[in-house]
Amino acid sequence: MTDLLSRPLKLPCGATLSNRLAKAPLTEGLADEHNRANEKLVRLYECWSEGGAGLLVSGNVHVDRRYLERPGNVAIDNNGGLEWIRAYAKAGTRAGNHFWMQINHPGRQGAVTRDGTFPAPSAISLNVPGRPEFVPRVMPEEEILDVIRRFAFVATTARECGFTGVQVHSAHGYLLSSFLSGLSNTRTDAWGGSLRNRARALLETVRAVRKAVGPDFPVSVKLNSSDFQKGGFTNEECLEVVRWLGEEKIDLLEITGGNYEQLPWLEDVKPSTQRREGYFLDYAKQIRTVATMPLMITGGMRTRGGMEEALRSGGMDVIGLGRPMCVDTDICKRLLAGDTDAAVSYEGALPVDPREIAAGATDDEAKALEMWTNLVWFFVQIWRIGEGQGPKADMTALEAYRIYRETEDRQTAMLAPL
Ligand SMILES: Cc1cc2nc3c(=O)[nH]c(=O)nc-3n(C[C@H](O)[C@H](O)[C@H](O)COP(=O)(O)O)c2cc1C
Repeated sequence: MTDLLSRPLKLPCGATLSNRLAKAPLTEGLADEHNRANEKLVRLYECWSEGGAGLLVSGNVHVDRRYLERPGNVAIDNNGGLEWIRAYAKAGTRAGNHFWMQINHPGRQGAVTRDGTFPAPSAISLNVPGRPEFVPRVMPEEEILDVIRRFAFVATTARECGFTGVQVHSAHGYLLSSFLSGLSNTRTDAWGGSLRNRARALLETVRAVRKAVGPDFPVSVKLNSSDFQKGGFTNEECLEVVRWLGEEKIDLLEITGGNYEQLPWLEDVKPSTQRREGYFLDYAKQIRTVATMPLMITGGMRTRGGMEEALRSGGMDVIGLGRPMCVDTDICKRLLAGDTDAAVSYEGALPVDPREIAAGATDDEAKALEMWTNLVWFFVQIWRIGEGQGPKADMTALEAYRIYRETEDRQTAMLAPL
């Protein structure tokens, strides 16, 4: 029995997490053609609920079916299927753990658009080698306000359907995160310019969500400690935003970093480049000095010693695990019971040769593809669990990539018209 990891955590709203381990949000890509939940998500979350974590955070659930991060995202925008959202919530809480819904809008990082546009703070294209270039559509103010209302609507629905908390996704370059960055937000109105203005979309969203769910319901935010880009959201800016989030009385801040243009937790995949544990821990320790809310650190946390250290001397409150959960769904239970000392870093051993997929790729394209194939290997593991096949740890990256391409192309083609 590991005391530190097993200690319950009382949140500011009054709710209690039964231990310090969390499944980080992992996009599932399992929804149906109306972006509704289904039996596959139920199966997946039953499995994760039994896995021992005190907290599960869902993969990003979208506020608008027109703009998706992936074709198989769950969305909640009057598209029906609430009985499945209830079943999904029930599955994810079946072992008595917390299950929070992560709420998101992809902004310019969307992969699916049903109206031919991707709305964003400014008309600044995403710069990812090999990804088709498009210029995002600038959101008028009424659309920003509409998105904020949608976040609140999804949060209300989550609560009504049995989720035990919500998380606002404001990291990794998606819409709210792109508002924070001076690189992707060059607006000159009340939603851009000063940091206070760039943070307005996030802060008003959090305020609307809190108002919608009430004071006794966990509200969390996922935030970049930094974008790690010149001119992007910096660590100093993050510290200021964390102070403001403290005034909004949030219950848990999940700390991460990067965006599609610069994603440290995905780049750091080779054993030779693996540094010490916890990609964002140094940043998180600085955040601790200004944060009034509990903190969750996600990214590269793998050993029990490292996790305990982050809790003990790093001032963290919850440890988020992402990729290990895609294969070893019971890893939290085993860590808590003392049956194992570490989660496996599958990302460190994936054999990827991007030239097998794209022979003529430039070096930059090959690097981006290498990162992407590393990610989709985990997508495919999640699909397999949802479909009842179980994970397949010895799957090659190439095999996973082919399954991924074929499945997402089919899902995209099958999406129901609005
Ligand atoms: C398959 C996969 C799906 C992910 N989906 C999401 C998501 O929907 N929302 C989110 O905030 N982060 C998402 N992430 C990022 C994880 O939550 C986490 O920050 C990242 O995997 C680093 O943690 P790890 O080193 O423990 O994997 C995803 C990561 C992976 C590997």
